[in-house]
Formats: sequence, structure tokens, C-alpha cells
Amino acid sequence: MAEEAFSQRTTTCGGLTKADAGKKVVLNGWVHRDRNHGALHFINLRDRYGITQVVVDDDASKELQETAAKLRMEFCIAVTGVVRLRPDTMVNLDMATGEVEVKAESIEILSKCLPLPFMIDGEAEPNEDLRLKYRFLDLRTQGMQERIKLRHEFIKAIREYFYRTDFYEIETPTLIKSTPEGARDFLVPSRFYPGKFFALPQSPQLYKQILMVGGFDKYFQIARCYRDEDARGDRQLEFTQLDMEMSFVKRDDVLELMEEMFNEVFMKVQNVQLPAHFRRITYHDSMNTYGNDKPDLRFGLEIHDLNDLATKSSFDMFKTTVENKGFVKGLCAPKTEGTNFSRKVIDALQDTAKIYGAKGLAWAKVGADNKLSGGVSKFFVGMEEELINEFDAKEGDLILMIAQEDWKKCCTSMGAVRSKLGKDLDLIKEGYEFCWIIDFPLFEFNEDENHWEAAHHMFSMPQAQYLDTLESDPGSVKGDLYDLVLNGYECASGSIRIHDVELQKKIFRICNIDDATAQEKFGFLLDAFKFGPPPHGGIAPGIDRMVMIMAQQTSIKEVIAFPKNTAACSPMDDSPSFVEQDQLEELHLKAIFPEKKSDK
Ligand code: AMO
Repeated sequence: MAEEAFSQRTTTCGGLTKADAGKKVVLNGWVHRDRNHGALHFINLRDRYGITQVVVDDDASKELQETAAKLRMEFCIAVTGVVRLRPDTMVNLDMATGEVEVKAESIEILSKCLPLPFMIDGEAEPNEDLRLKYRFLDLRTQGMQERIKLRHEFIKAIREYFYRTDFYEIETPTLIKSTPEGARDFLVPSRFYPGKFFALPQSPQLYKQILMVGGFDKYFQIARCYRDEDARGDRQLEFTQLDMEMSFVKRDDVLELMEEMFNEVFMKVQNVQLPAHFRRITYHDSMNTYGNDKPDLRFGLEIHDLNDLATKSSFDMFKTTVENKGFVKGLCAPKTEGTNFSRKVIDALQDTAKIYGAKGLAWAKVGADNKLSGGVSKFFVGMEEELINEFDAKEGDLILMIAQEDWKKCCTSMGAVRSKLGKDLDLIKEGYEFCWIIDFPLFEFNEDENHWEAAHHMFSMPQAQYLDTLESDPGSVKGDLYDLVLNGYECASGSIRIHDVELQKKIFRICNIDDATAQEKFGFLLDAFKFGPPPHGGIAPGIDRMVMIMAQQTSIKEVIAFPKNTAACSPMDDSPSFVEQDQLEELHLKAIFPEKKSDK
């Protein structure tokens, strides 16, 4: 087929300035807006780089005027014309090209566009499925264009850092062995081996460790990861990690390298100077002070331990909780402008606390002259000042308290109240607050399955002082684990890894995986560890989450070109979809459909 002749652009729609006045140019792009002002026809022509105003003057040829009249939104066109200065009254300093316009000499319609399902001007707010169905149009909006650009720049800056610091970028396979860890695997049936499956990697974890055994002591990869889990605001079925691993390192080497890298990247991409080092908070302190292990440090509202005060109060419920080795925690919500700690507001906070396991949320309002009123204030008569001083509370503030025998529930329910107040009272400052959470427990108890499991993954090193008590007291073992938290989101996780076969097997056993199963599932890793494995460790920041935060969004779908929707499908290409019967047969598969639930 002969190539279609069209006038190719000599410049983009974002590049023309006063200095170009008088030049003859060709622009290619989409009709962003067109409007007729009497005999004049204005077309805002858009491409990735910007918007240029094109004018069809009243002295234009009949042919040009006819073509201009045919234009509709989002037609793809080529414009040939001459750059000229706009009249003073028409200068638009909000537009990069706002001092000039192009007087059209000819317009070619390169392709037409159907009536739009939604406007591309970014002002319309179509629902998410409509946006995803017409993602090619949604991608043209300014917001998506900017966010995809930001993502590109972020990844580019990351690559530049790692190339410069002597890391190899190495790809690991996406058809791998299914291993029991973390989330559910996506499986890929093997045509050659009936009944056998590959899995898509949840992360390149084991392969990067084997690369260390293979002698590539500094590895990184922008890696696609696949997890068959529910898609939420900050989760997708497939997502991207900056995966990295190093040999002969200790924890601080990894943390410091990440700090240096993010300092460089945030400066390049956002022109933001981050602190040279990020705060380090132990898991235990983070839970106690912020009520979760991903604290949003853009606001204070710290949680206080009130066990001592509770014992001195006359509130039996608090006292019994402490006697039963439980916990009483509290925080003080500041009175801000427009705040009204009404019954309704307090009830809503109480509901939040209950979702996270609190039995109730006790409260007292701070009045004038160190007095408390309402709620449980009567139980603090005679020690009001002490409670008020504990929080340095001011008149109008609201003290909130939770008593719970279970430490984690006490922390998380108070943490949920803290997070809600941070938002509701508008306490969250702008900017980036990074911190490291360190000293995580290595194991968590899975109540449903009644056994211990790895809090992060099974390849993380226990801290040396716990090596002798691993089996006798798994619950108190801390790991050489670290998370990087940014503005209340877990952005990265990593650890120093085990590189000893016997220790690795011991961890598997504690996680209910016997030696035979371990050999069957992880034999390749255990075998590699028999051949001189180096000490190693690494981390994997989630690219989507970090770009989401940088772009000030709350859903990672906003920073992924083609995401899945919350129902785990893609409205644009209608995947997942049924396949032909012979495709299934070739793969030795038969679909079994769940029985429809009866209406009973
Ligand atoms: P982890 O499972 O904690 O660790 O993942 C690391 C980071 O990846 C991001 N992330 C996700 N982003 C979007 N959607 C998801 N479903 C999703 N799941 C995780 C998060 C998270 O912090 N192999 C280890 C890392 C290591 O130990 O080096 C791992 O994958 O930002």
C-alpha cells in the first residue's frame, strides 16, 4: 500500500514563541477546541507538547474555509501556516504559546473522530469505567498526559542513578515456578506438559537472590509483578517495582543507597530537596505512636500511652484493662478553626475506632481553667490537669482514649482515629515525609491456619540475637526487615536475606513447610545456597504507588496507562475473556463454571 502523503510537522504544538514570528510551519495534532468568531475561525491544536492557536482568517481561500468548517473535536489534522504575533489584547500568558498564533494556509484532515463519549478538556468527570473503556481518549487529557510523563521521568531518573552507580539492569523471567508465598499466583498452563503450570512472578525475589549467587553483586530491574489479589486504591493485579539487590551489604548500606537515590530522583523530577537521611522508627514505636506501620508524618497527633494515668483515674473499665495487662492509649484532637466536636463528630470517630476492633472510644472535652467536661471527664476529677498536661491540651481540644487488652487492636483503632482526624481537621501538610520502619517482627501468627507465617517473606534474615530462640519463641523474633513509608503509604519493602541452607530450612519449618515440601518448592534456591552464596540484601519500591503520591492522586490507576478496574478487568479490551474450546483443549484444560447461587 502506498504511504499516505501528509504534511509532516516541522514543530510541535508546544514550541512556538515570539521568536518564531514570520516562520512557515507545519503542525500535526488534534482539534482541542474550535470556535467561530464571525469570519474568523480559531482552532486550538493540541499534541503531547502543548496547544497552539491556529486561525483561519476571513481572507482564507474558499477551500480552506470549507475544510475548517468540517472540523470537529479531536479530528487529527495537519496545519500549514505562518507564525504571527497575537494582537496585544489576545495574548494569553497562561499558555506557553500564548503570545503567538499560526495563520493557516492549508488544513489536511488526517483522520476524523466520532462524537466524544466525554470531553478531553479535563473538566468533565466521566465515571471510571467509561474512562477505562475509552482509555485512548482519557490518555489524551492533560492530567493523564502529565502523569504518564511524570512516571516516565521518575523511571528515567531511577535508571540514570543505577547506571551511574554501577548496577546491572538484568531481566528475570516472567514464566516461573509457582511457589507458596504471599498472594495468590496467576497461573499459565503448559501446552507441552499436561497439568503443569508456570506462574507469573509476584516479584523477582528468588531470581534476584540467585543472581547474587551468580556473582552479579549489584542488580536492579524495573520489574512487572503479578498478584491475584483484590484491586484496591493502591493495589493492582499487575504493577511495577524497582527491584534491587546487592551482595556483601548490611541493612544500612541498602537504606543509605535508597536515601541517596531518592534524593537525586526527587530533585531531578520534582525539584524537591529531601533530607539526606530519612527518620527511622521501629515497628513497635510506630504502632505505639501512630497506630500503624505506615505512619503519615505530615501531621503530629501522636498517640500517648495512658496506662499510668488510667490506673489513677476512677474509671473501672480503664483500671481493669491495665490490671489485665492491657493498654490505654489516647490522643488529643486540637480545636482548629471551624472545628466543632459535636456528638455527631464524636460518634463518627467512635464508629471508626470500632471498625478496627476498639470496644469504645472514651472522650473528654478540654474547657477553660484546666477543666474537663462531657464523656468520661467525671472519672478524672482531681487529675484533670495531669491529663491535660500529658497532651499539652488547650481549651476546646478533645481528648480521645481507647482501652484494649490486645495491644495491636488498641494501637490500630487509635491509629484509625488519628488518620481520620488528620484528614477531617485538615492537619495534613503538603510535601513529602519519608521514614523507614525497621525492626519488624519476622513472623505473624495466622489464626485461620493456626501456624506462624513470614511477616514479609520467608527469605528475610532474623536479627542475630534471636537465632537461638527462633523455634521456641517465634513471636518475639525481629527480622532484618525494613519498609520505606511515604506520606502514610508503604512504598517499599526489603530485607537482608538468609544465605544459609539450614537457617532457610528452619524458617520454612516454622512457617509450616516441611523439608520435603521446601525441597520440592524451593529446591532451586536451596541448591544455589549450597554453592557459595554471598551475604545479600535488597529492597523493592513500588513505582506505581510512588508516582501516585508524587502526582497527588489516591488511586494508582491514575498513573498506569492501562490499568484494570476495581472488578479486576479491563473495559477497553474486555479482558479477561473466554477463549476458543480448541485453545483450552490444546492446553489440556476444561472450564468448570461455578454453580449459580439459588435465589433462596
Ligand atoms: P512487597 O510485597 O512488600 O515486597 O512489595 C514491595 C512494594 O511493591 C508495591 N506493591 C504493590 N503496588 C501495587 N499493587 C500491588 N498489588 C502491590 N503489591 C506490592 C508496594 C510494596 O511496598 N520481593 C519483595 C521486596 C524485597 O524484599 O526486596 C516484595 O515484593 O509499594
